[in-house]
Amino acid sequence: MDRNINLPAHVGIIMDGNGRWAKSRSMPRDFGHKQGAKALEKISKYADEIGILHMSVYAFSTENWNRPKKEVDGLMNLLRNYLKRNIKDAKKDNIRVCVIGDRRGLPQDIQELIIRLEDTTKEKDGMQLNIALNYGGRDEIIRSIKEMAKDIENKKISTSDINEDLFINYLDTANIPDPDLIIRTSGEERLSNFLTWQSAYSEFYFTDCLWPDFDKAEFDKAIEVYQNRDRRFGQV
Ligand code: FPP
Repeated sequence: MDRNINLPAHVGIIMDGNGRWAKSRSMPRDFGHKQGAKALEKISKYADEIGILHMSVYAFSTENWNRPKKEVDGLMNLLRNYLKRNIKDAKKDNIRVCVIGDRRGLPQDIQELIIRLEDTTKEKDGMQLNIALNYGGRDEIIRSIKEMAKDIENKKISTSDINEDLFINYLDTANIPDPDLIIRTSGEERLSNFLTWQSAYSEFYFTDCLWPDFDKAEFDKAIEVYQNRDRRFGQV
């Protein structure tokens, strides 16, 4: 992988396959998620190091609440530990962390930890890591429409002002460029409600690799495939 040619500015990742990774080792699903969180830390550091400007990861979807309570609790605990560790270790790297999704649906203490981590890292000038939590693309669009409707009611904007350029300011990803590349691990080839609006022109890369096994070499492979694609945006 050549870091100097056509690096995607924004990479989205659907981190899938933690459960199957654990099952193949006769271990509980929680163990897979724990290893998945480790893979996330390694890949985000590496992505920052090679010059990726934005990385967005699907860590907890609006649909994930339907999993067994024990698994949801385990994921929330993992998230708590991740947030606390990264607040403590913020000095060690240059990554700015932001959360997208409806954070109001998360436990109160996690909402507070998110604010602390965003605040601690806001001046960092390296990569921006966008963590999607309680996120669903359709939910994001509906929340954005509601906010826009409020602004119409309050006469801040009028219906005739609505266009794509205006609408994107209401999305969780306002100020974040659209993803150039979306990676999904574990052999599934679906978007599963991730960055629904923003992925209109994204390239997709699917790999059988399960997320806990996704390492620097796998990331390089995905970037190389992207670099060899011919992106035309509808032109000839
Ligand atoms: C999909 O694997 C993964 C998830 C639903 C959660 C993703 C979370 C992490 C990678 C770690 C936690 C993140 C943070 C920020 C601490 P799956 O359970 O659907 O796997 P399966 O399809 O093999 O069952």
